[in-house]
Amino acid sequence: MAFYRLGGEWSRSRRWRRFARVWMQRCPLWIFSLCLLSLIYFSFFGIKVQFHGLRHGQVNQGIFSSNEIGELEFSRPPRAKSRKHHVPCEVRFLESVDDLVEPENYMKFVQFSLTYITKEEIPDENNIFKPQFGGHQTLKQRENSYYARNQTLHCGFVKGPEGFPSTGFDLHEKDKEYMATCKVVVSSCIFGSSDFLRRPTKSKIHTYSKKNVCLVMFLDELTLAKLSSEGQIPDDNGYIGLWRIIVVKNLPYADMRKTGKIPKFLSHRLFQSARYSIWIDSKMRLQADPLLILEYFLWRKRSEYAISNHYDRHCVWEEVLQNKRLNKYNHSAIDEQFRFYQSDGLMKFNESDPSSPLPSYVPEGSFIVRAHTPMSNLFSCLWFNEVNQFTSRDQLSFAYTFLKLRRMNPGKSFFLNMFKDCERRAIAKLFHHRTEDSHPPPAS
Ligand SMILES: *[C@@H]1O[C@H](CO)[C@@H](O)[C@H](O)[C@H]1NC(C)=O
Ligand SMILES: *[C@@H]1O[C@H](CO)[C@@H](O)[C@H](O)[C@H]1NC(C)=O
Ligand SMILES: *[C@@H]1O[C@H](CO)[C@@H](O)[C@H](O)[C@H]1NC(C)=O
Repeated sequence: MAFYRLGGEWSRSRRWRRFARVWMQRCPLWIFSLCLLSLIYFSFFGIKVQFHGLRHGQVNQGIFSSNEIGELEFSRPPRAKSRKHHVPCEVRFLESVDDLVEPENYMKFVQFSLTYITKEEIPDENNIFKPQFGGHQTLKQRENSYYARNQTLHCGFVKGPEGFPSTGFDLHEKDKEYMATCKVVVSSCIFGSSDFLRRPTKSKIHTYSKKNVCLVMFLDELTLAKLSSEGQIPDDNGYIGLWRIIVVKNLPYADMRKTGKIPKFLSHRLFQSARYSIWIDSKMRLQADPLLILEYFLWRKRSEYAISNHYDRHCVWEEVLQNKRLNKYNHSAIDEQFRFYQSDGLMKFNESDPSSPLPSYVPEGSFIVRAHTPMSNLFSCLWFNEVNQFTSRDQLSFAYTFLKLRRMNPGKSFFLNMFKDCERRAIAKLFHHRTEDSHPPPAS
């Protein structure tokens, strides 16, 4: 179903079909030409796939970043094949939340204690120092931060010295008080008015969960104004439907996609007494009970972090090509990040390796379920720091971060459940972004 495709592809395929339909009606000769073209396309496709296989690791030589080649869509598998990936699959939730109890011993994961750098002083010799939300992590600090042990590390929310302006992500005191009460959180965000507000499906969420789970939607002022102008106005208690609206002022990054990674990865920093959190991208509508989600993805699987794999791609090499092909981000910034990861040991995904540490190296990060355990919190901080340091395309840094964390902590397990994308589709309905046609898609 075209509807289930990711936004960009969705609108592109729709446009293409419309184009095709019109021409088929007008000019039968075109049918012939189209056949001819697809014949050429497919022979090209075959050649390129071979090339692709041969030339892994040489993506920054410009062969694949050219737009003309991009238009040939060489890296996408034939449509019929990808289509069957887009059907939701069955998720066997428990019937109700009534008998739900956290399993005994569930929280017996690797224990250590993390604290966070909250303030940075100006180094004496440096007068161009500018306080930043992500802080100024040195390479050595970065390397040490990967050890799963008691430590103090960068994890966003770094302030400058006294007298410096805020580094951003400012929240109202009343909202902070509310957030401090949350034990289980579902959160999402819309910054830069990039999406419509999708209300969770009320009928799927049990009364108990409505009372005991915080559903928080972070918005910037611009998005709130836009929603309000369309009649979506928070009530006196700050709710629109089940979403508790929280306004964020002074966004730390000019790139809205980067700003969106703060609530996405740092829920353990934002909700300091929360034990569990669920992240859902604003392009999706939540249509399952949050507590049943915890039971299914974490408790039942004895895992502390759950994320879905990508519906199509498994290798970061492919993901890099795709990001460039769709012009998702500055190409040289992608190359820089990717080169760094390769120099630090990132390997290609090996599909035939039965002992592969992950079923895929490319996540579909629009839905994440987390227990706020030390390992899970550490991983979230590390992943955030990669996004802060490099591009906002978190699919590029996921496997690197996971594999490095694993490599540097032999004997200390991180229980990550990488589930199938079709399961994600069953719990959250996917829409395309508001700004699809005019801007690159934000917050994904
Ligand atoms: C780590 O921190 C915890 C709690 O603060 C403490 O009980 C433990 O002894 C520390 N471990 C080490 C190795 O310092
Ligand atoms: C793209 O990224 C490179 C390297 O990070 C940077 O030097 C350059 O200014 C960026 N270009 C744009 C248009 O942002
Ligand atoms: C992939 O894994 C298989 C099975 O373990 C192994 O035989 C093969 O050499 C691996 N391929 C690469 C490129 O590492």
